[in-house]
This record gives sequence, structure tokens and C-alpha cells, in this order.
Amino acid sequence: MSKVLVLNGPNLNMLGIREPGVYGTETLAYIESLVREKGEALGFEIDFFQTNHEGEMIDRIHSAFGIANGIVINPGAWTHYSYALRDALSAVSLPIVEVHLSNIHKREAFRHVSVIAPVAVGQIAGFGAHSYLLGLDALARHLQSK
Ligand code: DQA
Repeated sequence: MSKVLVLNGPNLNMLGIREPGVYGTETLAYIESLVREKGEALGFEIDFFQTNHEGEMIDRIHSAFGIANGIVINPGAWTHYSYALRDALSAVSLPIVEVHLSNIHKREAFRHVSVIAPVAVGQIAGFGAHSYLLGLDALARHLQSK
């Protein structure tokens, strides 16, 4: 069974309350339930995690080395500037799928840049909670093709 880490960066614990016009009204707990259902259908063992602390996220990524088969990550605002997060993802040599609820490319200019994208297999953005499910599908296909 493939082990997949589904990671969520800062402020995503506030989903449901936070800017519902941008991020929708679904909570992270609801997204987690969708991810677990989809993960089960794909035969994945899901480890779902959120933190507002960059070092904690980096430690979690390091601990996936040699254990997980892939990572689906919504890095939140770290997407746009965290070289430390990018280096951590790169260090573990796992397939990474970057996901975003909103379409970062049609928002403010600072959101158009992802420092994570160059170390990811690909990026999915703009489909709300469904971005995570598309991300899991994309990772499943990628793992099958290996
Ligand atoms: C986000 C987009 C980021 O720009 C923002 O900082 C977030 C959420 C998204 O899922 O759309 O926190 O990653």
C-alpha cells in the first residue's frame, strides 16, 4: 500500500471562516474526510497534516524520507517564498504534487510565483477542495507510471 502525506501550510486550519469568497466554505476537516475517502479508493494510506509553523512542516517532510511514497501539499503562502520548504521537499526525493484551492495565477501578482513548482511533478490550482482529489489522482498515475 502506498503511503501518501497530504500536507497543509499556514492558515488552512481557518478554512470555512477565512475569505469564503476565495477559498469556499468547506472546512479543512471536511477536506480531510474527502481526501481519506479518495485515498482509500486509490489504495493509499493517508497521513493528513496541517501546521502554521514552517520548521514543524520541514520536520514532517524529513520524517517522510524512506517511508512515504509521495506527497500532496498545499503550502499556503509559503508557496510564494519559502526556499526552506522547497529544499526540504527536494531533499526527500519523493514525487510532490502541489495543490491550491484558488487559482493563484489569476490573483495578486505575488501569488503568481511558486518556488515549490520547480521541485513538484506538477501543480493543480483553482478547483477548491477538488484540487486535493485531483492531486491524489495525479500522484496515483505518476506512481503507476514508475
Ligand atoms: C492557497 C493560495 C495561497 O496564495 C494562499 O496564501 C493560501 C492558500 C490556496 O490554496 O489557494 O494560503 O495555497
